[in-house]
Amino acid sequence: MIESFIHEWANLLIRWIHFIVGVAWIGASFYFNWLENNLERKPPQDRGKDNEIAGNLWAIHGGGFYHLKKFKTGPQPLPTQLHWFKWEAYTTWLSGITLLIVVYYFNARLFLIKPGLIDSGVMDITPTKAIAIAVISVIGSWFVYDGFCRSPLRKTPLLLATTLVLYLSLLAYFLSEVFSGRGAYIHVGAAIGTMMVGNVFFVIIPAQKEMVVALKEQRPIDPAVGKNGLLRSTHNNYLTLPVLFLMISNHFPSAYGHSWNWLILIVVSLISVAVRHYFNIRKVIKSLWWILPAAFIAMLLVMWMTAPVPQTAVSTSASTSKTVATQEKIDIDSMVQTIIQKRCTVCHSESPTQPGFAAPPAGLVMDNPDQVIANADRIYQAAVLNKTMPIGNLTKITQQERDLIAQWYTSFP
Ligand code: HEC
Repeated sequence: MIESFIHEWANLLIRWIHFIVGVAWIGASFYFNWLENNLERKPPQDRGKDNEIAGNLWAIHGGGFYHLKKFKTGPQPLPTQLHWFKWEAYTTWLSGITLLIVVYYFNARLFLIKPGLIDSGVMDITPTKAIAIAVISVIGSWFVYDGFCRSPLRKTPLLLATTLVLYLSLLAYFLSEVFSGRGAYIHVGAAIGTMMVGNVFFVIIPAQKEMVVALKEQRPIDPAVGKNGLLRSTHNNYLTLPVLFLMISNHFPSAYGHSWNWLILIVVSLISVAVRHYFNIRKVIKSLWWILPAAFIAMLLVMWMTAPVPQTAVSTSASTSKTVATQEKIDIDSMVQTIIQKRCTVCHSESPTQPGFAAPPAGLVMDNPDQVIANADRIYQAAVLNKTMPIGNLTKITQQERDLIAQWYTSFP
């Protein structure tokens, strides 16, 4: 009892920290992208004695006016106080990995492994193996991605981007075969996040250090270093929206719980990359205004194509007599009540008996028949449509029982 209480608080506090430092990281990154896109760049003849300035801008925020300048190479002499932006990224990764451990690896049987995989004997997967796959997919993705960026592919950025999309799609598909929907989503997200932090740690910050050293030594900056840093920060820019989608999607079984969840992941990510592209180029290329409405329509299409298909009730009897139908309804009612008590209330109870649960998850209590009826929509959605419940199918619900719930639900007037 006390362990699960501490576990829940650990989850909440680490999530809170992860969220705060993530906002700081992505916020700074959005801000500098915005700066780049909004600098007033004067033509060289108008720059006068400020010829080393690439552009500048005025802004008003909070309590005052700000004047920012971007240098073409770097200031001479170098200022004594130079602010770096790296700890936002590092702490986001560290807190994210900690959260992954607390939520998914402490409870791999429940949250990580695809329900039914163990029972069906399709795959001999233990929590340890699942965690190994998870860790390899996250860390390995960095090496795969870094390899792509160092290969000859780097000379054709579009080909490199396509290869990356293909790799991530394969990863999404593979993980959705082994992990629960949310486990698959969060691990694709963690893999992308690791690639982004790896870019900061292994490429972008070293490139900036090289720039500083070159300035100090008053020698020209190696153009290859700058180019590589730019390529990686462009990737980070485009990966931001997909990664944020994957991080929040864990609370939405309509996406991760769908049988085509990996495809939804790919399509929504691509849509968000297009949206990012629009915001990157809109100051320069005005003719691409249609991206936003097109993205909106594409999202509606995704929603429409993945909308739940109502399961039609299969009547257990051919009889149409009213009294028999009523009797049958009462039977189904009591059968469903029994199913819920057997398969759900170990967790979804005022006082759960399942170890590791201090309180009813998602605030859902189904201790008595009225509570079951009041939550019919949620039960139908979770146990029939998305099959995300019982979580990890720990209580081994059968397909017949799911069908009965469907029949019960669709028999409501
Ligand atoms: C082993 C424990 C466990 C069992 C058994 C279980 N649940 Fe859950 N349930 C959870 C957890 C944990 C969550 C919270 C998931 C989250 O944080 O996203 C949850 C959330 C839910 C939700 C909220 C929406 C959602 O899908 O996340 C519904 C509805 C639900 N469960 C229904 C059921 C039904 C119906 C059953 C029985 C058929 C059931 N649960 C059995 C642990 C369980």
